[in-house]
Amino acid sequence: MSMLPLRHRLLVASVLLGAAPAAAQQPVPRPPGVTDSAIAWGRRLFHGSANCAACHGNDAQGTGDGPALTGALWLHGPGTYEWLVEQIKRGIPGHQTWTRKPMPMRGWTNMPDEDVRAVAAYVWSITHPPREIKSTPQPS
Ligand code: HEC
Repeated sequence: MSMLPLRHRLLVASVLLGAAPAAAQQPVPRPPGVTDSAIAWGRRLFHGSANCAACHGNDAQGTGDGPALTGALWLHGPGTYEWLVEQIKRGIPGHQTWTRKPMPMRGWTNMPDEDVRAVAAYVWSITHPPREIKSTPQPS
């Protein structure tokens, strides 16, 4: 009988630990390559020559030509930094998108790898932590 209170206390302790959303309380550590200067340069490209903003919106909130990049819900992959780099290099042909609209590869200016990595750093920075959940666009 004397063991029962102890077991009871252990159970309570483990339930409390399990309930703590540890990941949500800590900022996500930056992957290598996501530096302040890469983010700043990527931000300029996003709104400038690479013209991501034309389709994804000035605030990356999405337009009729490209989905929101808000980070809570990714349509085409895991949202990691290296995945963003590859996604921007490859673009997405129209037959592989939900909306049947294409995404050009390397923005609108055929950016070199270094610029692609900077834009990816900027997109990573505005999506970690994620901002809001947007609904999935429907194929038209
Ligand atoms: C001509 C319009 C257009 C431009 C310019 C464009 N995109 Fe896209 N992007 C799209 C479309 C369309 C999709 C796919 C949406 C779908 O599946 O319907 C997409 C998808 C993406 C995705 C994947 C989103 C997800 O939820 O998985 C990322 C990341 C992305 N674009 C980033 C960029 C970046 C960064 C740039 C600038 C270098 C850029 N895009 C330029 C139209 C564009």
